[in-house]
Amino acid sequence: MKITLSSENIKKIDTAVEIKIVLDLEDVCKYDKDILDDLNFKVKDEEVVFLVESKKIYVGCEEESYDAIAIAISTAIKKFNSTKYKDAKIEIFGDESSTLKALVEGAILGSYTFDKYKSKKEKEIKKELIIICKATKELQKIVDESTHIADSVNKVRNFVNTTPQDFYPEIMAKEARKVAKDNGIICKIHGEEFLEKNQMNAMLSVARASIHEPKLIHLAYKPKNATKKIVLVGKGLTYDSGGLSLKPADFMVTMKSDKSGGCAVIGILNAVSKLNLPIEVHGIIGAVENMIGGDAYKPDDVLTAKNGKTIEVRNTDAEGRLVLADCLCYAQDKIKDFDYIFDFATLTGACVVGVGEYTTGIMGNNTILKRDAVSSALNSGEYATSLPFNRFLKKTIKSEIADICNIANTRYGGAITAGLFLDNFIYDENKDKWLHFDIAGPAFVEKAWGYNPHGASGAGVRMTVEFLKNLL
Ligand code: BES
Ligand code: ZN
Ligand code: ZN
Repeated sequence: MKITLSSENIKKIDTAVEIKIVLDLEDVCKYDKDILDDLNFKVKDEEVVFLVESKKIYVGCEEESYDAIAIAISTAIKKFNSTKYKDAKIEIFGDESSTLKALVEGAILGSYTFDKYKSKKEKEIKKELIIICKATKELQKIVDESTHIADSVNKVRNFVNTTPQDFYPEIMAKEARKVAKDNGIICKIHGEEFLEKNQMNAMLSVARASIHEPKLIHLAYKPKNATKKIVLVGKGLTYDSGGLSLKPADFMVTMKSDKSGGCAVIGILNAVSKLNLPIEVHGIIGAVENMIGGDAYKPDDVLTAKNGKTIEVRNTDAEGRLVLADCLCYAQDKIKDFDYIFDFATLTGACVVGVGEYTTGIMGNNTILKRDAVSSALNSGEYATSLPFNRFLKKTIKSEIADICNIANTRYGGAITAGLFLDNFIYDENKDKWLHFDIAGPAFVEKAWGYNPHGASGAGVRMTVEFLKNLL
């Protein structure tokens, strides 16, 4: 989808179709309003009609918010894409900058389709959307930025949607290297030998039963004018079968999405470099496959993580926290004097139960930082909420035989106890710099919602880019 701005009078712009976002039916011209009334058109999310004669797509929009506008344009564009017409125009309304961001991101995210595994591919027709507004430099900049952000989200969706037979740690590393090469990002890939040398025994144990070698991926975007330094760590489980604590069949399906945190980190680096943000950003990704086999790590094993802490394994399906434990230590040992360290992970089903499938759970020790991250998320069009640590939940991951246990002794508060497990691998001097993002809910969409079709959503990218932009 090509998106252009034009300051021309709308009547002078000759496109095949016009898109009309309807906030209030009273604003629609009398002639069309009568037809819409006859068609029982309502001003609601995802309500759309195509008036073939006048070539107008009318779409409902419940309010003038990012969400509602993005959903409306995505609905309209899907209708438009189902036709053979090549170009459409739409007139801007309301607050021009925020409407424009919602229109561009909604249009690109809503147009996304994934047909890699379809034997018959839809023929792609090059489409153009002309947005009529004051075509100023500032507004053009919003179009460019939003395009980069939405393209990065779609890149993450492509990675995550790719199946485990086609996307294992080595491929993840290859894709990361490709993104790095295209954007002048430094990329280092490490394998088993390196992990052994660095005593990353927790991550190695999770990987042991897989035929695929684990990979530690380090991306570094280092602009000359950097004023801040951020570390992003991602859970990259290219498949999570649960290991010997095997998942039930119904829960195993969709576990190709357990790499969403790692893929989001690649996507964020892609976006940050395309936007030329003056921030040094490091991405550390633990790419691993959790499988079963004679060599699998076991419930009852005690593992020693990179920081020397011993972990009693009581459930091999709580593997993400083991991989992250080592990756968080690696990041803190390797990268010096950073301002923030964030990790992204599809870590717990409990987070989905707790806050619903649309929302990311944000945890950490720094209340103000959590609040800022939540508000960045909401401003970017993602849903997030803060989840609170407390001293009692902290005690539930004690172990009788090791320093800590990989599962809690209670059924309740599973998202938080997983976050508290990770806290054990955050060094004292970094406690206030750290946030954990549990994206288990929003990362993978089973039933399409808003501008998200079935499959990966690319969760984490928009909110983090927004957070980083707010630092400047
Ligand atoms: N990858 C899963 C978490 C998950 C669940 C992600 C649903 C996306 C959707 C994680 O590795 C896991 O299995 N966690 C366990 C932890 C439990 C054993 C303490 C869970 O949530 O059940
Ligand atoms: Zn698991
Ligand atoms: Zn997992």
